[in-house]
Amino acid sequence: MPQLARRTDAAYLDFVEGFRAYILGNGANFEQRLNDALVAEGEARGAALVDPGEISELVRAWPLGRLRDRLARTQQEMKWHAIRRSFDEQRAGLRAELERWDTSGPGRLLLDPDFVYPPYLNVHFHLQPGGYYKDELSGFLYHYGTKVFFRGDNDRDELHEKLVGLVPGPADGRVGRVLDLACSIGQSSTAFKRRYPEAEVCGIDYSAPMLRVAHRRAAMLGDDVTFAQRLIERTGFPDAHFDLTFAFIVFHELPLRIIHETVREAARVTRKGGMFAVYDFAGSREMSPFQRYHRWFDARHNGEPYSQDFCDCDFARILRDNGFEVAAAPVGKRSGGAGYMANWFATRV
Ligand SMILES: C[S@@+](CC[C@H](N)C(=O)[O-])C[C@H]1O[C@@H](n2cnc3c(N)ncnc32)[C@H](O)[C@@H]1O
Repeated sequence: MPQLARRTDAAYLDFVEGFRAYILGNGANFEQRLNDALVAEGEARGAALVDPGEISELVRAWPLGRLRDRLARTQQEMKWHAIRRSFDEQRAGLRAELERWDTSGPGRLLLDPDFVYPPYLNVHFHLQPGGYYKDELSGFLYHYGTKVFFRGDNDRDELHEKLVGLVPGPADGRVGRVLDLACSIGQSSTAFKRRYPEAEVCGIDYSAPMLRVAHRRAAMLGDDVTFAQRLIERTGFPDAHFDLTFAFIVFHELPLRIIHETVREAARVTRKGGMFAVYDFAGSREMSPFQRYHRWFDARHNGEPYSQDFCDCDFARILRDNGFEVAAAPVGKRSGGAGYMANWFATRV
């Protein structure tokens, strides 16, 4: 991860990381306090609150709810403002750094000069300035942004290595090719390469700036991974090409139509007996009233316009309908800064 321009920038972002932990964790305890109030309100009305519109009206009528929302939005703006300003000051140097690594190995960077970005991708996810692809430094911004976001779980790829380590391999143990869908800066891809050193590992993403950072990172670490600019719903790989296909926190950023297309594509490229492992937000049905509110808020005020649809869909059913067997119902759990997470480990049948 590149250094920030000044030590005061790093100190400021350390503060933002702590501020974020305080607001979203047990310090200010907003979640517990607001959830208790929502549960009490449900009891008073004789039925648990489930409708996000109804819940949001209540939360926004309470001063505590409005305070929490303002702080949640503000820490996100503080974070991106500071990161962008600090990398802007080093723009020329970072551009040269990317150019230097583009053609160095190990590993390969395959960008498509004719790539057309589909309109549904034109979103500033989590308020990242320039979104995922409009700034040539998007990959660097994202890396530092997720360092702050994951609150200590992303300083040295800790979260990615843990999650990749928990993926059950195919039952026959055969792992010759791994596909990391929407790999961003390739942290899961390199974790897979370390777990299966003999396998060909390929990370795909639509964002060229992300892939350039992914390639630079992997090459600096000495990991032989291929990074290619492709859509996850139309990968272009042959049928049954991969033993293990993986997707970490991308499905909640896709419109419902693309969710369906991506699962269909994963089923096409994963061989019979192969594994499709997905980590993402837990479904609405497993959420507390406050967690439902948090989704509603994120969709409107934190650059997550499609996440509600993902949480409301029956993802296990979509997997089954496309030829996967899902071993067990996903279990929602807290994970770093990522909120309420779940996993789906699906075998291609
Ligand atoms: C939240 S990040 C995913 C994190 C990543 N999987 C990891 O392991 O850190 C979302 C990524 O998905 C990519 N993406 C979103 N929709 C995509 C699509 N339809 N095709 C390819 N990449 C996509 C974005 O460019 C971005 O890099």
